[in-house]
Amino acid sequence: MVIDQLLNEGIENLRNIQYSNPQLEVRLILSRLLEVDKSYLYAYGDREVSEQIIQEFRSWIQKRVAGYPLQYLLGTQEFMGMELEVSEGVLIPRGDTEILVEYLLDYIRENFGDDEFTLLDIGIGSGAISLAIAKLCPKSKVYGVDFYDKPLALAKRNMERLGLHNATYFKGDLFSPFEGEHWSEYFNIVVSNPPYIPEGDKKELQSEVGGFEPETALFGGKDGLDFYRRITQESKGYLKKRGLLAYEIGHDQGDAVSEIMRKEGFGDVIVKDDLESRNRVVAGKA
Ligand SMILES: C[S@@+](CC[C@H](N)C(=O)[O-])C[C@H]1O[C@@H](n2cnc3c(N)ncnc32)[C@H](O)[C@@H]1O
Repeated sequence: MVIDQLLNEGIENLRNIQYSNPQLEVRLILSRLLEVDKSYLYAYGDREVSEQIIQEFRSWIQKRVAGYPLQYLLGTQEFMGMELEVSEGVLIPRGDTEILVEYLLDYIRENFGDDEFTLLDIGIGSGAISLAIAKLCPKSKVYGVDFYDKPLALAKRNMERLGLHNATYFKGDLFSPFEGEHWSEYFNIVVSNPPYIPEGDKKELQSEVGGFEPETALFGGKDGLDFYRRITQESKGYLKKRGLLAYEIGHDQGDAVSEIMRKEGFGDVIVKDDLESRNRVVAGKA
């Protein structure tokens, strides 16, 4: 079988699955298996493919048909111009989260210019938020915490892949690794994209998210707001005076999270929408 025939077979099989772009996906999958650039597939469509690659290709396509995320198959996802490794057990970084990072970058530019500042990312996942800031702000001192081993190991691998040295990761429950005088009012910025989906929405979730990504990264208690309540309350001892607390939020959580922050005494609370006018970021000052 030649490359073009195999690609067409894959396109036929993927045609009916939701959220897929069959033409692109089959090329990404085959180029990854052959360890070639996508352009190779266009140039050499008449080349024979080995039996082993054909079998692997078919098994990856079957996984995709069952809803397994493309990023887990390919093992990578692009975020803020960085190629991040992704793997099962860790949330795949989303385009939505780039809105939070862009908000932070504007804030950092305005408040610190090129000067040093400290930032803590709660729930690091693949390291998407913390590594973007560490890379784009070389003078930053970035810290991160996650409760689970898989994200911690992956974020550390991503830091090494990117050749960064200004991020430090800890294992623990929210602020628990930062006990002691040293960390008191230490951070200029605390940021988090916590688990925020209400437990009750589990069933409705599209199979791609619900079935394959870790529940520990997704669900935030009965109303989805548990982590916002805890982080907002606990952050106060760790943020400097007028330090920034910034969150990614679910599309309908702007009012509820703003309210939580105001009740805890945060000021200048703002909600920022995404390009489709859905709530995406809430931030305020300690
Ligand atoms: C929605 S994911 C965000 C991952 C990453 N920051 C991103 O934006 O792609 C939430 C993360 O919080 C972590 N997490 C869940 N409970 C936690 C806890 N109690 N303390 C610290 N991290 C926690 C999860 O393991 C997961 O990596």
